Amino acid sequence: MKATKNKLIIVGTGHVGSAVLNCALSLNLISEIVTIDKIKEKAAGEALDSTHTTPFTYSPNVKIHSGGYEQCSDAKVIIIAAGPSIMPDEKSDRTVLAERNVEVMKDVMSSITKYTKDAVIIIITNPLDTMVYYAENYFGYPKNKIFGTGTSLDSSRFRRIIANKYNVDPKNVHGYMLGEHGNSAFPTWSLLNIGGVPCNRLDEYFKPEEPLDREKIASKVVDVAYDVLHLKGFTSAGIAMAACRLAKAVLMDEHSIMPVSTTLEGEYGLNDVALSLPCIITENGVEKRIEVPLLEDEIAKLKASAENILKTMRAAKLVK
Ligand code: 2OP
Repeated sequence: MKATKNKLIIVGTGHVGSAVLNCALSLNLISEIVTIDKIKEKAAGEALDSTHTTPFTYSPNVKIHSGGYEQCSDAKVIIIAAGPSIMPDEKSDRTVLAERNVEVMKDVMSSITKYTKDAVIIIITNPLDTMVYYAENYFGYPKNKIFGTGTSLDSSRFRRIIANKYNVDPKNVHGYMLGEHGNSAFPTWSLLNIGGVPCNRLDEYFKPEEPLDREKIASKVVDVAYDVLHLKGFTSAGIAMAACRLAKAVLMDEHSIMPVSTTLEGEYGLNDVALSLPCIITENGVEKRIEVPLLEDEIAKLKASAENILKTMRAAKLVK
């Protein structure tokens, strides 16, 4: 059944899925939201609680309820936030979740494909790139209609940290973290600019307290996720906003360019691995991956990041 209205499905209503629900309501774009969780009471409770926001001024009158996978048949967007997240006491790496979450993803994707191959699927579940590769390549779903939030979140952390350093609005900081969503993500310094001022002139224009230390910032961007994890026990607000921003690009057919994770087909000589590159996001999902001009050392980092992801894919027995 083709979607006729802006219907969003959220699979998984833990900390992340429930943050996605709140964030999705604030988009003012969605007419129906359905929560799905293997713990049915949790899905129902989150949905019911959220219905109590709708009478307030400025709240959109969204129809919110829980349901089964049959609800996917006329959905426009499905956000998958199912499966355990890393815990503060777990080794500092999202890859420890690989085997567990391949099983979760198997269940979720087999259930979704019974009812639709039309909806755009946005994946949040970690280890993100491995989950995207699995979902895109094992279930016969149109590849362009599946992508992962990827380094859209790492990029927002990068932009926030750069904005703090130079005391400007992060929306005026343009730049990407590319590669893995996780420990081997790296900043593309050659593409960074603030309001048109290129990276190598930022100190001159914006006079920070200390000169730019690229290595220090690159590590800080990766480490800040673990800071949140250790401080509050999980991360949720940033990732929910990333997923909802991407959902908006789909629902409004915005042709927005954001770094998301997809399976590469020869870009930078890489194949058969999913990682984040800037992509054009439309109502059909990923319309195009952009092979942005990168410096040699950045291409080397991208390839090293791909190797890292391949290790996780091997651990999850998805490739040899
Ligand atoms: C995050 O980066 C843990 O992947 C999650 O917030």
